[in-house]
Amino acid sequence: MEWEFDLLKKTIRELLNFDPDNYKEKPFKRRLSSRMRALKVNSYAEYARIIKSDMEELERLKNALTINVTKFFRNREVFKIIQREILPELDEPVDIWSAGCATGEEPYTLAIILLEARKKGRILATDVDEQAIEKAKRGVYNEFSFEETPYFVKTRYFDRDGDNYIINERVREMVEFKVHDLKELSSFHRLFDIILCRNVFIYFSKDFQEELMKEFYMRLKSGGFLILGKVEGMFGQNVKLFRPYNLKERIYRKA
Ligand SMILES: C[S@@+](CC[C@H](N)C(=O)[O-])C[C@H]1O[C@@H](n2cnc3c(N)ncnc32)[C@H](O)[C@@H]1O
Repeated sequence: MEWEFDLLKKTIRELLNFDPDNYKEKPFKRRLSSRMRALKVNSYAEYARIIKSDMEELERLKNALTINVTKFFRNREVFKIIQREILPELDEPVDIWSAGCATGEEPYTLAIILLEARKKGRILATDVDEQAIEKAKRGVYNEFSFEETPYFVKTRYFDRDGDNYIINERVREMVEFKVHDLKELSSFHRLFDIILCRNVFIYFSKDFQEELMKEFYMRLKSGGFLILGKVEGMFGQNVKLFRPYNLKERIYRKA
């Protein structure tokens, strides 16, 4: 019903600082429907009520609506844990895969924390979106990408060019970017110490999500770490394959 749809749009505008009227209606409704289906909710008014009280669902909706959106140090806490707890445990060079890296902010953040920790490492960064990978390789960003970033990072690792910031060569050369579809399983034969696949599972069916977690298990060294997005989690048979390392930050360890 139209009034219910308007009510939901108003709620989203208030809660997410995101204006649905700037969005094309069809993809907007498609993304809403996918979240509503997942919750088995069939009225817009009911879904509006849910996002008012369920912060995790609100975050899922935000992810569904902001498909390519990413930032340096997104969910900063997880990078603190990698730097302070995880990197000191790992032998050099540390091998990391950023799967679904969008425009490169996540893999460059990893390169920056390796440099800060004075650890040698190499990062494979993949995404199915060719344009996103091209942008990542260019390494030119604006203020928006830095909303969650510690202040020193900009001055230490970027050159300023007007309103833009260009990533330093020493960071760029630590990351290898590749266009790659995660649906093609077993494409890489390297083994990794850490795999990050954050805010990507939303694109996949539950069955494929399970398969993909198994794939990540195979691609991790023994004791390696799998890091998911803040509102994603391990389920199904995979629960037996991984030990929770930090559940709040969705960090799991190959058992
Ligand atoms: C919201 S971004 C996540 C970026 C980053 N991981 C983060 O959390 O900030 C989701 C990315 O997943 C990518 N993606 C979607 N389906 C994919 C697939 N089948 N294979 C690889 N990447 C995919 C999209 O192109 C998009 O860039």
